[in-house]
Amino acid sequence: MHFRALLIGDVVGKPGRRSLREALPALLADHSVDVVIVNGENTAGGSGITPPIFEELRGLGVDVVTMGDHVYRKKEIVPVLAESDRLLRPANLPDEAVGRGFTVLESQSGFPFAVTVLLGRTFMKPAGCPFHAADAVLAEVGERAKLVFVEMHAEATSDRIAMGWHLDGRVTCVYGTHTHVQTADERVLPGGTAYISDLGMTGPHDGVLGRRTDKVLPALITGMPRHFDVSGGDLRVHGALVTADTETGRATAIERIAVSVEIAHEPAPEKGAPKEDNEGQDGEDAAE
Ligand SMILES: [Fe+2]
Ligand SMILES: [Fe+2]
Repeated sequence: MHFRALLIGDVVGKPGRRSLREALPALLADHSVDVVIVNGENTAGGSGITPPIFEELRGLGVDVVTMGDHVYRKKEIVPVLAESDRLLRPANLPDEAVGRGFTVLESQSGFPFAVTVLLGRTFMKPAGCPFHAADAVLAEVGERAKLVFVEMHAEATSDRIAMGWHLDGRVTCVYGTHTHVQTADERVLPGGTAYISDLGMTGPHDGVLGRRTDKVLPALITGMPRHFDVSGGDLRVHGALVTADTETGRATAIERIAVSVEIAHEPAPEKGAPKEDNEGQDGEDAAE
């Protein structure tokens, strides 16, 4: 039997969530998708995720939400990380870090699948070795799932490509996130592991990695930090569709997904209304 996983790249802010909400029904209908895995580390105002936003994604039909280096940006998500088996923190954080680094679930179509997310170490904050962490996760998953999806949340493409080769023939797919730019290097490696260096970004593409150009440019030019508000135009949903054999867990195909979304302009919130995005506390961090 064929198994299809829709993998969605970092969803940025409200524009990203609206884009996903708009595009997802057609993607699911067109491709008979078994599971949807979404990187949600930028869903809340560009950094982190909140419990209502996690529920919002689940309500759209998202099976698993992964988080990267922004996992703990919104403190209110910590209890959900502690409880849910559908929200993941990077597996190579310290054992004491709240949350789980991998999950084994059953798709609605009845197939067991596993998901894990790992942080790269090049130009990132300190984390454990992602290669050893991946091996440890696979040992724990064991025979429970043949379909295994490994997200490599890394700054360097070399970290991700190396992980692809490290896990080739052992997992269904290794895919990259974090840099928010979709790469054109999707392929099935010789051992049957689908690979892409970056899924890309779901959200506004008229800015800099989802942030407003008129905020980012002055900060870079003057060297003075400022808040990077979430941008707004040229909305796209980026990701990949992986087809795998349920008997072997190996991939037979990987296809890039890049969908432009037209959404009517949403009126500005009334004066004094709480701002959902652009909350202002994450501004100086250029890394996504
Ligand atoms: Fe990130
Ligand atoms: Fe990101």
